[in-house]
Amino acid sequence: MELYIDTANLDEIKQAADLGVLDGVTTNPSLIAKEKYDYTKRLEEICAIVKGPVSAEVIATDYAGMMKEGRERAKIAPQIVVKLPSTVDGLKACKAFSDEGVRTNLTLVFQPLQAMMVAKAGAYLVSPFIGRLDDVAEDGMVLIQQIRTIYDNYGYKTKLLAASVRHLKHMTDCALAGADVATVPFSVIKQMMNHPLTDSGLKKFVEDYKKAFGG
Ligand code: E4P
Repeated sequence: MELYIDTANLDEIKQAADLGVLDGVTTNPSLIAKEKYDYTKRLEEICAIVKGPVSAEVIATDYAGMMKEGRERAKIAPQIVVKLPSTVDGLKACKAFSDEGVRTNLTLVFQPLQAMMVAKAGAYLVSPFIGRLDDVAEDGMVLIQQIRTIYDNYGYKTKLLAASVRHLKHMTDCALAGADVATVPFSVIKQMMNHPLTDSGLKKFVEDYKKAFGG
């Protein structure tokens, strides 16, 4: 399973990249707004750190605007993936970019047919939002399972990227459901190697050894 970090914060990206298992980065306008920093400059900085796919979202919501902004974003670095909303205009832009050989990430997916349509349009990544569905009393994991089944039924090559991941249970369930990628906040990445029994077990091993042999 590929692991992306979902942030525009350089410090978090550097720390995650240092773990040696980071495959890519996703950003969105809200994450960039939080940084209060120029989007293009920040994308350049991110691409200098991470060589895997870096999703760069358009702000425009109409087809022409998405095409213009998407082309600008794609010029920033070869690993840029143009992130588009899963609307009718986004679908058309996805098809046009796919025909031009530009990789896309179709975001804000909340139902399985959006995922099917963008796969038909050649999306490189599809981003169903688990946490936001859970927030409105739906089950985000069901969407991941449905998309996995549809993609497997028809052999769609679009990578299933689980987004809006909020905690470790989401991560485990995504891995079990066969998500190709998960994009995860740094706060969750940091916990992925944790278990209290690992810590207490390690402490005991060291104590026992020192009791027996000193040191
Ligand atoms: C995905 O690409 C989005 O940036 C992200 O996962 C949204 O997560 P949120 O629902 O926690 O804002």
